[in-house]
Amino acid sequence: MTHALRVLVFLLLTLALPVTGFGADKKPVVAVLATGGTIAGGAESDTATIGYKAAVFGVDKLLAAVPSLGRVADIRAEQVFQLASENMTPAHWLVLGKRVNQALKDPDVAGVVITHGTDTLEETAYFLNLTVRSDKPVVITGSMRPATAISADGPINLFNAVCLAASPEARGKGVFILMNDTIFAARDTTKTNTFRTDTFAAPDTGPLGVMQLGRPLFHRLPVRAHTVSTEFDIATLTSLPQVEILYGYAGSHPAQVTGALATGARGIVNAGTGNGSLPDASKQAFAGASAKGVVVVRASRTGSGVVTRNGEVDDDALGFVAAGNLTAQKARVLLALALTVTADRARIQKMFDTY
Ligand code: DGL
Repeated sequence: MTHALRVLVFLLLTLALPVTGFGADKKPVVAVLATGGTIAGGAESDTATIGYKAAVFGVDKLLAAVPSLGRVADIRAEQVFQLASENMTPAHWLVLGKRVNQALKDPDVAGVVITHGTDTLEETAYFLNLTVRSDKPVVITGSMRPATAISADGPINLFNAVCLAASPEARGKGVFILMNDTIFAARDTTKTNTFRTDTFAAPDTGPLGVMQLGRPLFHRLPVRAHTVSTEFDIATLTSLPQVEILYGYAGSHPAQVTGALATGARGIVNAGTGNGSLPDASKQAFAGASAKGVVVVRASRTGSGVVTRNGEVDDDALGFVAAGNLTAQKARVLLALALTVTADRARIQKMFDTY
C-alpha cells in the first residue's frame, strides 16, 4: 500500500471513529476540588499579573476556560473553599483531606485535582501526601497569573493536572504538584519566586517528570513513604496540635521561644542558619521548651540540603529532632501530624527519617 493510500485510510478511520462510536472508550472520572487562589483570581486589566484579587471565580468558570477537558475526563466539580491560600489553616487541611479521601473512595473516580493558591500550596500538598488513604493520583495545581490575564497559566495547569490525575501511570506515586508543565513530588517542592510562572522547584531532588500533549513522562519516582504507607489517619481528627515556626538570624532573641510557647504550641520548628544552627543565647531557651515537653525540630533557612542529627547541635542531649531535608514549613506539617500519634522524640525522629 502506498504511503498516500495509508494516510488516506488512517484519516478515514479517524473520521469514522466518532460516527461509529468505535473507540469511544468511557472517559475517566476526575474530581476537581477548588479552594480559591490566583487561578481563580481577577483584575480590571488583562495586563495586570500582580495587584489582582485572588479567589473571585468559581470552579465552573475555571473549567469553562478549558473546553479541551471534555475529551480527557468526566469532571465532578466542587467548590470546597474560596480563599487566598495565605488564609489556609490546618483546620482547612483537615476538611480538604477528608473530602479528598471521601472522593477517592468512589470506585468510579480515577483521581482528584485540587486548585489552590500558590502561597501555601506546598504545605497543603505535603499534608495530603501524608494523609491520603488511596494510591489513586492526587494533583494540586494553581497559577501565578490571574484568570483575567493575557497568557494566564491557570488553564494549561488545570488541563495538565486533570490529564495527570486521569493517567493510570500516575497511580502509587504520592501527591503531585503540577505547575508549568512540570510534575513535582509534594514532599520536595517549594515556591521559590514571588511572581514568575516557573516559581515552583524541588531544589534537592528536581521534578518527577513533565507533561507533554496531555501525557506524563516520569523521569524518577519518590523514595520517601507517602499516602497509604503512612501511619496518619485524619478520619476522626477535628484539629491538629499547634506548631510554630521560628526563624534564625544573627542576633535572634531568645524571647522568640517564649512567644511561641505563649501560643500553646506543642511543637516548635526553627528555620536555623546553615545546618540548622542555634546561637548559644537561644539554645538554652529551646532546651527549656524541650524540657517542658515541647518537641523542638531543627530545620534550615537555606532552602535545601540536609539538617544532620547531632551535626551542629547535640540533639541527643537536648532532646531535639533533626528535620533532614524538609523545609521548615514542611517540617511543621509533619510535626503537627506526628504529635497526633506520639510525643516520643525517638519515634518522631524516625518519622522525619521516613516521610
Ligand atoms: N494570595 C496568593 C494565594 O492565594 C496568590 C498567589 C497564587 O495563588 O498564585 O496563594
